[in-house]
Amino acid sequence: MDKLTACLLIAGGIIFMLLGIRKFRSNKKLLSDFYIGDTFNSALMVYHHILLYIFLSGYILVLISFILDQFLSSEFIISGIFFLGAVFVFLENKLHHNAISAMKANLDETLRISSALENEREQLISLNKQLLETENVTIFALAYQAEIRDKVTGNHILRTAQYVKLLVEDLMKNSKYRNYISVEYKTEIVKSAPLHDIGKVGIPDRILQKEGPFTRDEFEIMKQHCLLGAQIIRKANERLNFKSFLTIAEQMTLSHHEKWDGSGYPNGLKGEEIPLSGRIMALADVYDALRAKRQYKASFSHEKACRIIREEKGTHFDPEIVAAFERVEAQFEQISITMNNGNH
Ligand SMILES: [Fe+2]
Repeated sequence: MDKLTACLLIAGGIIFMLLGIRKFRSNKKLLSDFYIGDTFNSALMVYHHILLYIFLSGYILVLISFILDQFLSSEFIISGIFFLGAVFVFLENKLHHNAISAMKANLDETLRISSALENEREQLISLNKQLLETENVTIFALAYQAEIRDKVTGNHILRTAQYVKLLVEDLMKNSKYRNYISVEYKTEIVKSAPLHDIGKVGIPDRILQKEGPFTRDEFEIMKQHCLLGAQIIRKANERLNFKSFLTIAEQMTLSHHEKWDGSGYPNGLKGEEIPLSGRIMALADVYDALRAKRQYKASFSHEKACRIIREEKGTHFDPEIVAAFERVEAQFEQISITMNNGNH
């Protein structure tokens, strides 16, 4: 091998050595970012670093000696290179071993934390479910306060909530309402439904439990249940600092006796001035009343109730909600039968 080739090979070795030192430093930074705690033996890193510089110095020394024709060769230097090369390989493997062990320890810790988080998530889901059920039961209990005094309406609040759900689910398929009725709106309106007559707690028994038609004055008092109910819900809603279903509940309670042609109460709203929740509950409420048996009237058949609702399309009821009702009326009848309408 001529001198030039030998010098080029050693110079190439020096370049690779410099690149190796640079890569080693970059690896060291990555390791310090990656590991949690002092899992890496820093003394090993130092020895490894020193060896790299010893090798670099040796390469440079040999290159200079080649250039100056003063070839360095002794048993001591050769045996020293062999020894340090073996130590270097050992340190390199030891460093790899430590790195892999630290990664495994981190992975085990990550898996343990992940498992603990999953348990907490499941507990939160369970608590949230219990909270929602408690909320629904509280709503029912509040609504039931009014219903229990109005002895003729048994199960009215449960049935009307089911009717509202059927109508909303059908309206969600209608392109006009698709953007307005979200899944959240559906949940809130169904949750609100039992509260629509909560204002009846403020109506005297002599009127609420009267069997037979009201006098003009009695009816005026009865009409107050919309305003009273909305007031109760508004008071509760004011205590919350986030948007809750009570906003829809208040609208529904206030407007469920409004009529499409403006002849309803308490505000004589007309058409789409009436909140959607009120227009939906108006139909659910009337269907349930028509199907119910009263002291002064028999329970109307499903067919008769449907006929009356159709006749009041565009006068009492929003035509589009009547159309939705016509698509799901068979399910109305099913709920009416299974939930005991007509026996009260
Ligand atoms: Fe009402």
